[in-house]
Amino acid sequence: MSFGIDDLPVRDELRGKSPYGAPQLDVPVRLNTNENPYPLPEPLVERIAERVREAARHLNRYPDRDAVELRTRLAEYLTKTAGHPVGVENVWAANGSNEVIQQLLQTFGGPGRTAIGFEPSYSMHGLIARGTGTGWISGPRNEDFTIDLAAARKAIAEHRPDVVFVTTPNNPTGNAVPAETVLALHDAAQSAKPSMVVVDEAYVEFSHGDSLLPLLDGRPNLVISRTMSKAFGAAGLRLGYLAAHPAVVDAVQLVRLPYHLSAVTQATALAALEHTDTLLKYVEQLKAERDRLVAELRALGYDVTESDANFVQFGRFEDSHAVWRRILDRGVLVRDNGVPGWLRVTAGTPAENDAFLDAVRELKKEQGS
Ligand SMILES: Cc1ncc(COP(=O)(O)O)c(C=O)c1O
Repeated sequence: MSFGIDDLPVRDELRGKSPYGAPQLDVPVRLNTNENPYPLPEPLVERIAERVREAARHLNRYPDRDAVELRTRLAEYLTKTAGHPVGVENVWAANGSNEVIQQLLQTFGGPGRTAIGFEPSYSMHGLIARGTGTGWISGPRNEDFTIDLAAARKAIAEHRPDVVFVTTPNNPTGNAVPAETVLALHDAAQSAKPSMVVVDEAYVEFSHGDSLLPLLDGRPNLVISRTMSKAFGAAGLRLGYLAAHPAVVDAVQLVRLPYHLSAVTQATALAALEHTDTLLKYVEQLKAERDRLVAELRALGYDVTESDANFVQFGRFEDSHAVWRRILDRGVLVRDNGVPGWLRVTAGTPAENDAFLDAVRELKKEQGS
């Protein structure tokens, strides 16, 4: 018998669990992890090389622990794109928004505390809660994947969570959450007890609507979490950030590892931020492709959830995993998120999306699925 995890004295709540991760299969068309399909443009690659070369000259030293230059540039980006003034004191950065979320849960969650999310949603919120010893509460959604506000208010009043997650646009469903709903959840949470509301805006650049950043005004318990993994096409960089009241930025520094953001990461992110305008042009192309996927899937007779993200949820299938497999057999990898009856496809290049649409068209012809 081989020695395994459960033979080690691991924490009870980790026993029998599997690590997070979409299958990384080597197929021609990969539309399963909501990545941006466009490689970084060559002038940006050159600029990254330049910036990293300069950073390499100082790698004998620890990096700027507070990443001040990077946070300043991120604040400028937010101010420009969300039309709401944000300063360096409002911004914090870490290795992907997953680390931002981890730091938030280490700060505001933890043993004896709870967090709530409205599922199906980004499963890492629950997994990071578990990893930080925070109790996880799965809140409800309506049939159409909008947040059931009455039920959400009830769950908040009953459980009095310390952290409330709202993902907008939501992953894996794609729909955005209206500002009024976020405000109602925020107010419900505060009336239960002072608690943090984390709005995960990983996909907001792809949205038809605006960022909820202006809601930060006068709401020190609200946090907006963002990433460079999607709109900036830099998932490999691992750079996430948050905007919030300066007190939140001070608070997360109580749990961050010293020098958590390497000098190479900071240099690369700074180079990418110099090319924001070019990168956001790809976002426009992806939004158009996302809208095309929605229209064509609907024309084929599929149910499609309204999407404000760079992916589309479609269904309904009696056996979504079997359909996932049949699409894969045609060389296209989409995502089975375990939402019964539904699958999710990331908007790729026009050619990748054509390959996906051809695959589902064939399925329709074969079996009327
Ligand atoms: C809603 C949501 N938040 C956060 C993340 C994590 O992003 P990052 O790459 O910045 O850790 C993802 C990634 O898929 C996501 O879907």
